[in-house]
Amino acid sequence: MKEHARQARAENRIVGLVPTMGALHAGHLSLIEQARRECSPVIASIFVNPKQFGPNEDFAKYPRAFESDREKLQRAGVDSLFAPEPADIYPHGFSTYVNVDGLSDRLEGRSRPGHFRGVTTVVMKLLQIVQPNFAYFGRKDAQQSRLITQMARDLNLDTEIVVCPPVREPDGLALSSRNIYLNADERKAATVLYRALDAAKSELAAGVRDALQLQAVLHRTLGVERHARVDYAEIVDGESFESVVRVAKPTYILLAVFIGKTRLIDNLYMEPKSPDSEELVFHF
Ligand code: PAJ
Repeated sequence: MKEHARQARAENRIVGLVPTMGALHAGHLSLIEQARRECSPVIASIFVNPKQFGPNEDFAKYPRAFESDREKLQRAGVDSLFAPEPADIYPHGFSTYVNVDGLSDRLEGRSRPGHFRGVTTVVMKLLQIVQPNFAYFGRKDAQQSRLITQMARDLNLDTEIVVCPPVREPDGLALSSRNIYLNADERKAATVLYRALDAAKSELAAGVRDALQLQAVLHRTLGVERHARVDYAEIVDGESFESVVRVAKPTYILLAVFIGKTRLIDNLYMEPKSPDSEELVFHF
């Protein structure tokens, strides 16, 4: 892959990389589409990265669908697929890690210790192998894309990180490879994340800015759903991901909710319409 990507760069082509863990859905394919508009060649990777799963997480049962993924990527017009084995990425003796301090420890990082260190390490390796001009990530994983942008800036990477909007089912559920774990009842219940974000949005649109008031709305909506158990529901600054008391600047509402045994995340991003406007623009 290094040789292959080096060749494309030597021809002054614009190389795009879309890293994934496979079990591909329309969310992943939207990243490919975006990459295809801006790059040629587009390289996709599939690697279920053991280092970003905790000891009690779903690494062993994470969905793997290599043949159908390969077909989907081919149909989507991907030029090359990089699908290494764990021993290629982490050979015996591997011992160097990338960690984004602070940001890695909050929210997802707090619930999943070591998770982001695994993510930033593997993404750094993929970026080193391919050295793409652009690499594409989904805002569905808001904290992850924020961390990767920070890493690229801090380590002077030549790759521009592009963050793309989440793709949702018609009922609002954000697409995720983990949605296949949900049974029929849980699948219905899973829309509660979107419903909670939407309820908070209505409050915000009516002028509410107080974080505690918004959190109360989130918990009220989530609390009605008997299959749902809230891990966190936070209102955070769009840059630092620290909790805010009032919504005034670019802000995320971040949710992590267990639906049965499946842990789902979702978010709503908002920013003032103009620098000194009271009005907010929402991005689901
Ligand atoms: P994975 O969960 O396979 O997601 C790959 C990329 O697709 C990520 O950038 C993710 O944010 C994006 N994505 C997932 N669901 C999406 C949706 N509904 N709409 C738009 N984009 C979506 O995230 C990972 O893999 C890994 O942590 C990885 C970055 C590959 C490192 O191992």
